[in-house]
Parts: sequence; C-alpha cells; structure tokens
Amino acid sequence: MKRILAPSILSADFANLASDVRKATDAGAAWLHVDVMDGIFVPSISIGFPVIESLRKATDAVLDVHLMVTDPLRYIDRFADAGADIITFHQEAAFDCDAVIERIKAKGKKCGMTIRPYTDISALFPYLDRLDMVLLMSVEPGFGGQAYIESSTEKIRAMRAALDEKGYADTDLEVDGGVKSTNLKTVLDAGANVIVAGSAIFSGDIAANTKAFLEQM
Ligand code: DX5
Ligand code: ZN
Repeated sequence: MKRILAPSILSADFANLASDVRKATDAGAAWLHVDVMDGIFVPSISIGFPVIESLRKATDAVLDVHLMVTDPLRYIDRFADAGADIITFHQEAAFDCDAVIERIKAKGKKCGMTIRPYTDISALFPYLDRLDMVLLMSVEPGFGGQAYIESSTEKIRAMRAALDEKGYADTDLEVDGGVKSTNLKTVLDAGANVIVAGSAIFSGDIAANTKAFLEQM
C-alpha cells in the first residue's frame, strides 16, 4: 500500500506559512495535514477557512483537513470550497455521521473519519463502506508536540486487520500524534500508511526532517 507523509502545519511558523510548507513539499511531502480546532471539541483554537484558501493558492499538495470541530456538518461546504481535498471529522463530534459523510461526498471530496485515542475502533465500523480514510489519533486531539500513546500501536494493528477482514484493504489508515523518526517504523509496521507529523517536521531543518521521514517510508 502506498505510504504517504502528511506534515501537520500546526507546528509551522504561521507568519511564514508558505515558505515553511514549500520546504516540506520541495523535500517530497505530497500531502499537508491541516488541523482545524474550534475551542469546543478541543480546548484550543487553531485556523479556519481563510488560511486554507490561502494555502490552496500557495501549493498543489493534497490538503488533508482534520476537523476537530463540534457538529462538523455545519462547515463541510465551506471547507470543501476553501480547497480541502480530504475532509476528516470526529465520530464523537458529529450528531449524524451519515449526513456528514454524504455532505463530504456530495462536494466531491474524499472522506475520512477519526476517533480519539480511547474511543474503540468499532465506532468506525458502520461507516467503512463509505470512507476513503480512517484516522487513528495517537494523542488526545488539541495540541501538537505531545508524546505518542503507546497503546496506539495495538489499535493500529487491530484497525488494519479489521479493514483487511471486512474487505476494505484499500482504505487509507492515517495515524496522527507524537510520530517521530524514532517510532515511525513501529507505526508503519503496525499497518498505518499515512503518517502525520507536526513538531517532528516543522522544527529545525524542515527539509532535512522531511527527507529523514521519507527515507524510512
Ligand atoms: C493534534 C493534531 C495533530 C498535531 C500533531 O490535535 O491533530 O495533527 O499537529 O502534532 P505532533 O506530530 O507534534 O504530535
Ligand atoms: Zn491532526
């Protein structure tokens, strides 16, 4: 299965976003992970539509938008119109997951669904037939730079096995939170094929960090 690196711009310098992002994409990153936080589903507030619109003009990378937002249905059209390619929402945050999936698909976008670290993977099972991607959080959503929760490895393994067993072997399995060059191999071996990394990419030498990740993938 194709392995993809999705640097999370949450740890980039927002005053120099285009240049930070270009360092990662020039070094080979094909996706950019965009964390949207509403201050309700998670304590923090990050970025919204205008930043995604500007980013869309600045890069051809796949924009992988992770909505940490309560009642995401309210905003799907606007994120799609802003330039998201993939929209991922939290199972715990939606009142009607089916409606959110339908809305994302109606806008012609790829659809991902995600759960917090301590939500059981079975919460995603009813929706697998319509998902392009499943995202497993390996930290509590809300902040970059947290430590990888070790029990995530077993969860990734179980999710990959469930996807294979249920006939969704082609569904992307993304992992987000605390991935560094030191635990990347563990996460990949467990069955993830899309890797989010924020602080490990956007600190120090962005190009060198990106290359070091890609060499291991
Ligand atoms: C956390 C975000 C992550 C975050 C990851 O809520 O969803 O995407 O940017 O950052 P690191 O890689 O530093 O854990
Ligand atoms: Zn994220």
